[in-house]
Amino acid sequence: MASRQSSKVPGAAEFVPPTRSLAVLAEAVQGCRGCDLYRNATQAVFGQTGSSAKKPRLMMVGEQPGDREDREGVPFVGPAGRLLDQCLEEAGIDRREVYVTNTVKHFKWEPRGKVRLHKKPSAGEIFACRPWLQAEIEMIEPELLVALGATAAQAILGAQFRVTQSHGEVMRAEGWPPVLATAHPASILRAPRDEDRHRQAAELVQDLRNAKKFLRK
Ligand code: URA
Ligand code: SF4
Repeated sequence: MASRQSSKVPGAAEFVPPTRSLAVLAEAVQGCRGCDLYRNATQAVFGQTGSSAKKPRLMMVGEQPGDREDREGVPFVGPAGRLLDQCLEEAGIDRREVYVTNTVKHFKWEPRGKVRLHKKPSAGEIFACRPWLQAEIEMIEPELLVALGATAAQAILGAQFRVTQSHGEVMRAEGWPPVLATAHPASILRAPRDEDRHRQAAELVQDLRNAKKFLRK
């Protein structure tokens, strides 16, 4: 997949500065032209560590910024972020000690009346943006990645990976830290029935407990 897609987009590699500073990376991502998604977004949304001074051991990887994140420049501050916060709290994980980021750093959307409707990033865009995620991983050196949803899971574990089949298990992929995939909180919020949302959120919490257990070792 990667090599076929890579010919269509320049990719982010040439925009990633050789640095040991997250702040420098976070500034440089604003100038990225590695794919076309920067054109219609307000700004790039880079990852962030919570307020704790501790070095994060856990990195969570979402899909891409949503409408709120695009306006505020901070990952997971909208409705999906609120659900994620609740699930983290229930699992006994302190969000302030987690580094939270996205697979793709610019918001992809299409107009639907007055709203900006989220659009799934393509395989080419996911591939183009991967150098930023890799740079974040090099800096943070997390002991575990939690992939929230199929986009993050497939960027790391390959296109054949199915979150529904293998969620909650720690997987190994060459060149990556150990990774545990789980559902995306935004997809849970989209489930039409209350009972499905509750069940899926409970599964997400259970997967996060597995992540916590892994870190305790
Ligand atoms: N969904 C994501 O994947 N990331 C965000 O930052 C917000 C919503
Ligand atoms: Fe660069 Fe990623 Fe934004 Fe594309 S989505 S322009 S690769 S930062």
